[in-house]
Amino acid sequence: MSRLVSYRKQGPVAVLAIENPPVNALSPGVPEGILEGLKQALGDEEVKAVVLIGGGRTFIAGADIHEFEKIHAGEARGLDMILHAITELEQSPKPVIAAIHGTAFGGGLEVAMACHYRVAVASAQVGQPEVKLGIIPGGQGTQRLPRLAGAAKAAGMCAFGEPVKAADALSCGIMDRLIEGDLLAGALAFALEVSDKTPPKASERAVQGDPAVFASLHAEANKRLRGQMAPHAAIDAVEAATRLPFRDGCKVEAQLFENCLKSDQSKGLIHAFFGERTVAKIPGIGKDVLPMPIRQAAVIGAGTMGGGISMVYANAGIPVRMKETTQEALDHGLATIRKNYANSVKRGRFSEEFVNERLRLITPQLSYDGFEQADIIVEAVFENMALKQQVFTELDGIAKPDCVLASNTSTLDIDAIAAATRRPEWVIGHHFFSPANVMRLLEIVRGKQTSRQVIATSMDLARKLRKVGVLVGNCRGFAGNRMFAPYCRESVFLVEEGNAPERVDGALYEFGMAMGPLAVQDLAGLDVGWRIRKEFRHLEKPGVRYAELDTMLCERGHYGQKTGRGFFVYDESRKASSNPEVMALAKEYAAKAGIEQRAASNDEIIERCVYALINEGARLLEEGMALGSVDIDIVYLNGYGFPAWRGGPMKYADLAGLKKVHNKVCEFQRRFPDIWQPAPLLERLAEEGATFSSYDKSRG
Ligand code: COA
Repeated sequence: MSRLVSYRKQGPVAVLAIENPPVNALSPGVPEGILEGLKQALGDEEVKAVVLIGGGRTFIAGADIHEFEKIHAGEARGLDMILHAITELEQSPKPVIAAIHGTAFGGGLEVAMACHYRVAVASAQVGQPEVKLGIIPGGQGTQRLPRLAGAAKAAGMCAFGEPVKAADALSCGIMDRLIEGDLLAGALAFALEVSDKTPPKASERAVQGDPAVFASLHAEANKRLRGQMAPHAAIDAVEAATRLPFRDGCKVEAQLFENCLKSDQSKGLIHAFFGERTVAKIPGIGKDVLPMPIRQAAVIGAGTMGGGISMVYANAGIPVRMKETTQEALDHGLATIRKNYANSVKRGRFSEEFVNERLRLITPQLSYDGFEQADIIVEAVFENMALKQQVFTELDGIAKPDCVLASNTSTLDIDAIAAATRRPEWVIGHHFFSPANVMRLLEIVRGKQTSRQVIATSMDLARKLRKVGVLVGNCRGFAGNRMFAPYCRESVFLVEEGNAPERVDGALYEFGMAMGPLAVQDLAGLDVGWRIRKEFRHLEKPGVRYAELDTMLCERGHYGQKTGRGFFVYDESRKASSNPEVMALAKEYAAKAGIEQRAASNDEIIERCVYALINEGARLLEEGMALGSVDIDIVYLNGYGFPAWRGGPMKYADLAGLKKVHNKVCEFQRRFPDIWQPAPLLERLAEEGATFSSYDKSRG
């Protein structure tokens, strides 16, 4: 018997238990084990029914995603054995019952649907999340699910990949019974009840569909999952189930699955899936470094960031003290928090009760009272080094010895902040993204002396706060903003060269960015960059071109959304329209500065902006400011609206081919020699015919 599937008899019922931790994925050996167990059960006259159950924490969480990676890499690993097991299970003359706890996702649900009955504990969830990996169900799921749950429900589940709770699965026909108490005992009892019945086959049921439902799902997919092909393929496959016999529908599914699997979109999304898990593992910080428990937190500052961060802690159930310097600022901060929560209740995201509970966890105050008990203190004051250092010196005198001292700075030197204390090993950067209670990214900035335990605590805390924590080095702008600067620079250059902001943003929106770079700058406030630029003006090299148009807009009092005018004009509901002044200013400035006016193609817009990101990313990587290119990708997917289906900027470069990227960067260098120089790492990897992903293999 396969060591991945165990077989035992309990009276007249054979129990097949899958033992492939951690999530019982259908790795090679598992379908074979199921087939072997089934054969043994069918050959044993005493056996009247079969129960298929997951050992450990779950039923089957799906096909083994590593197998898809192998197919991407050109290794011919068939998924045929899973299909074979699915067919044999349904053909079994003895009833097979899937007993589900944890998750039956993807191939797991497909296996369960090939069984004749499904029972589950109330906490179980089922789903077809393949679209999140850029593919569709490929184990006949798009054909059996509509036959059990109806076409509309099935198409929605396959197109958006959201899980369904056991009770919902019962009411829509996926599940046959919910089991209270012990799952196996309940499944065995159910098996005895049905042991003499003819096993019902999902594939033999009839299903009808309404074209209007499919059309509206396509429209919804265009909105929610813009640019992605798999959701549409999933809807089409389910639609096929409503007009074709089962076998023919399976052929349609197989073709659509194949198209999706070989697409760059599935490569990007699978990279993102594993990437999110990879960044949580820090080389040199193993299980021996235990994270400290964070039971009480304190935040300094109740502004946009401080308030948002306090909400993040409260949402995770951690009591948080929020300090301001004046009653007015404190009241304002608290009012914003209340407004944000009220909006969440209105949108149905949180219940009123949940919000009241969270609000009770936030203690607004003007003093440092109680800060001595905090396990972590997060500083979120104005972005000014002298002020931050003063706050950290004060904290040094107040915080308990084992308190993590975190700064939410987005640009300043963590080591200089840490130097204001006598315990630099306890100081770390926690760079939240605005709005902190919404954005998933948390850049965790390691100072020279930050201890391994403080890093481990921060990574663990990020997960508890439901953030994606990415460890980065201490450099100006850290990983995300440092790369964002040349990206924004190119977008402004393109306008200075006579391309309308709508054209520039439009090309990048089409590329898949959540927002165009100019709209992002308007949202963040053009004055932010203007102030930083004034502070660092002395570092600018004479004769080098810098983006001027944003400065010119600021000098005219146009700071973006906050003043109603920037690269775009905003009405009261913040709807953007074109700002005619921008093109006139660009023309005037270009004439003065000798900048050639030329219309850029969409490809040029995308390449200049995105390759600027990639080139800077390569520098960061070589300097060790990011642990791997995958870390940069996860930063961009979760903090900067980079399309997940492109895998992040570095994966996008790998897929485009580093030679192509390098050649283009060299071409830009010829055109703008003082701005563009290929990063040495990009040059080297391109020459070697290598990829950023292969460079990551040394991540440790
Ligand atoms: N194939 C291969 N590995 C898988 C996997 C799969 N289908 N699902 C999860 N894993 C791995 C993860 O990579 C992780 O590995 P690591 O510990 O080496 O980093 C480990 O299993 C645990 O997963 P994780 O996501 O950290 O655990 P969780 O308890 O938070 O979530 C799931 C469990 C099953 C809900 C979640 O992993 C998931 O959604 N998996 C994908 C399911 C899917 O898409 N199935 C369809 C595939 S066709």
